[in-house]
Amino acid sequence: MAHTIRLRPYPMINRGHLVFLMSATPILKYYKASVAAMGNLTPTHTLIVTSDRYPAYIKADDIHEWMVDMDAIQICGGNTLCGEVDIQGSKNGTLPLLAASILVKGKTVLENCPMITDVDHMIKLLEYAGCKVTRNKRSVEIDAASIHRTDFPPEHTGVMRSSIMLLGAMLGRMGEISTYYPGGCVIGERPIDMHMDALTQLGVQFTESDTKVEARTGQLGGGSIKLAFPSVGATENVILACVLAKGNTLIEGCAREPEIVELCRFLNRAGAKIRGAGGSRIYIEGVEKLQEICYRVMPDRIVAGTYLLAGVMTKGIVVLNQAPVDQMQELFRILQMMGADLAIADQWVCINGEHAGKSIARVKTAVYPGFPTDLQSAFMAAFTLADGCSIMEETIFESRFKVVPQLQKMGADIHVMGRRAMICGVSSLKGCKVEAMELRGGAALVLAGLAASGMTIVENRHFIDRGYEDICRDLKALGAKISDEKEGILPETWCGK
Ligand code: UD1
Repeated sequence: MAHTIRLRPYPMINRGHLVFLMSATPILKYYKASVAAMGNLTPTHTLIVTSDRYPAYIKADDIHEWMVDMDAIQICGGNTLCGEVDIQGSKNGTLPLLAASILVKGKTVLENCPMITDVDHMIKLLEYAGCKVTRNKRSVEIDAASIHRTDFPPEHTGVMRSSIMLLGAMLGRMGEISTYYPGGCVIGERPIDMHMDALTQLGVQFTESDTKVEARTGQLGGGSIKLAFPSVGATENVILACVLAKGNTLIEGCAREPEIVELCRFLNRAGAKIRGAGGSRIYIEGVEKLQEICYRVMPDRIVAGTYLLAGVMTKGIVVLNQAPVDQMQELFRILQMMGADLAIADQWVCINGEHAGKSIARVKTAVYPGFPTDLQSAFMAAFTLADGCSIMEETIFESRFKVVPQLQKMGADIHVMGRRAMICGVSSLKGCKVEAMELRGGAALVLAGLAASGMTIVENRHFIDRGYEDICRDLKALGAKISDEKEGILPETWCGK
């Protein structure tokens, strides 16, 4: 049976998802029905969808339902935000915990799991390995009693960096893994050499090809290793691999990010013996097994920072509930230097952005507790409207200024010099169509759209959905005029034109 679907002609939006809910091949769910995506679909699929621009080839029998998802966010800028929002669970906290559930030969229940696409992918990978996963909104139960596969497919590993967390977890549980190189945001090289070096020091053997990496070990016996750079991912992988080792492990030069503390807290609650998390030396006493556990994921410090900046950009008043304020001290310092008024309590923060228009001579991304690279582009968006020039220096990733040309399209005055960007404040930004290139840069464009005059369309919403449960829902709750998927595509008259 062949179906023909004709897309409505959308003014200004030339990209969209045709979202198919498939029976046999659920992986296709997220494919764009675009010319670019056709290469990913096999020639056995019959033509079932046509539009003026994009034909897509999908096997008709597999389709349950279809819908059009415009894959864009529309913002009518200029509203001063005022309101409160609850902060979702942490993306970078949750993904290592999902991987860690493999080490528990039984049930793990994670509460406050964010409903984001990276979590969907990690769950698919756990199911692929043999875990039984039951999900009820933000509550995810993983039963890892039996793991029957140690090889992972590229579809889900290739879309996010955190799939590499499976390396340590599978070595710890099964002694082997075969996986594809991780994907994720295109913000620099992002190699995995430190992960591999550290695990090699513990006796793991690696075989690499152009696309895949295989690792194998007998029973790990622990050891002493030193990381050349405090890589978050490498620290997490070593911890995951060594929790069940027959011996003790000392890791020196560890990352000190809150996500490391979260992982160790989770593992210790399940019976692991880990000391020193949050410092640069972590000691792991190998235990025989981990017990079943129910754990509540911490809130997301990056999402919290994004919404504080929404207050700054619109000169509004924004209250965050369930915010991880103890992890946000460096942000608070910079926001105060910009002139923001902050009231901070336990898991609660209120920002008044009315006077937060000062430029900052120099902000430099750094490892925790320094300024987080994940908020670099959002702060750049805020600096575009400051009263003077600010310098943003990116020290963690070599290619994280991809948002700059898009902000320039909106009228921002930004010059990039290697790893530094000089952002000179302009009196206003102008709404237009811009393209998200990656997760955090996409969120920065939404922030810019909140402050810009007229309508901004941020294309490639799917990048933002990797880390934000529903950025439209949250900003709407704060009073933003922002499209909601359910409303469909809004005409320019929506913005008063
Ligand atoms: C990084 C951030 C983390 C953030 C995450 C998602 C830091 C220190 N880490 O973690 O806070 O939540 O991105 O955006 O800010 N590197 C190598 N070889 C390796 C591993 C890393 O060269 O094997 C390099 C990376 O290319 C990068 C730097 O080390 O330049 C930081 O990497 P790492 O901390 O491992 O990155 P993530 O774990 O992805």
